[in-house]
Amino acid sequence: MEIYSNVADLRAALNKLRQQNRRIGFVPTMGNLHAGHISLMHQAKTHADCVLASIFVNRLQFGPNEDFDKYPRTFEADCAQLREAGVEFLFAPTENDLYPEPQTYTVEPPEIQFMLEGECRPGHFRGVATVVMKLFQIVQPDVAVFGKKDYQQLMVIRNMTNQFMLPIRIIGGETVRAEDSLALSSRNGYLSPEERAEAPRLQQTLQNIRQAVLSGDHDYEALCRKAAANLDSHGWKTDYISIRRQQDLAPATAADRDLVIVAASRLGTPRLLDNLEI
Ligand code: PAJ
Repeated sequence: MEIYSNVADLRAALNKLRQQNRRIGFVPTMGNLHAGHISLMHQAKTHADCVLASIFVNRLQFGPNEDFDKYPRTFEADCAQLREAGVEFLFAPTENDLYPEPQTYTVEPPEIQFMLEGECRPGHFRGVATVVMKLFQIVQPDVAVFGKKDYQQLMVIRNMTNQFMLPIRIIGGETVRAEDSLALSSRNGYLSPEERAEAPRLQQTLQNIRQAVLSGDHDYEALCRKAAANLDSHGWKTDYISIRRQQDLAPATAADRDLVIVAASRLGTPRLLDNLEI
């Protein structure tokens, strides 16, 4: 695997690939890789001739009281996993490589950036959209793969790519879970053993809501309110559980089809995120 941190060096290497008409599949990450990330690498490979991953913990998308400094950085282990997955190129810039000067030009997503995750994490999606736009400009991939685990993020990036007419196909990868249904996440490492045993309740809660909806319960607000109260009675601090429309994440009404239940709840230190489509 060829590893680049310098933008000009990476561009030179990728130009050679393009001259050979090789299609580039791109998977951006913040590192501390797990099987969820690796599944995206495999998916990228099915849509492209070679895969490029990036590892960059993007300060712009972290709030002042979030875990930027503590975010797990496991570069050597990440490289081993990427090599094993057959990833040919890794872009791992330093902050100075990607932000040589303060990033005063930013990508400002529309209202979607203020709901759900965006309401809990002001500025988060501006930071995500801005870094992904920069990465797209540097890599100029043919295809880029993002996980459905971060449902709202995938939507922000899809819409941004469409509206800026970037010639990049965005693919959503299914969420990879532990056997007990907990969605894999770099932040699961913050859970104590007791919390780890409790954590599958989040996905179970979403499955219960899905069952209720499919059985004809259309009082979505009451359903979600009760589910959140039940989670909180088991030591969680729920930010939101909500039934939304898949197409735009607007609150769903009984008339809507193609729904998704989205949730974020804190268990001990980490905030866990999950969703389930209906
Ligand atoms: P990160 O949290 O490292 O996630 C990188 C990619 O892996 C994202 O597309 C995320 O949705 C996906 N992912 C995470 N857990 C997953 C799981 N269990 N199954 C499948 N895919 C999973 O998301 C980011 O980094 C950043 O915001 C980034 C897009 C890199 C911009 O900084």
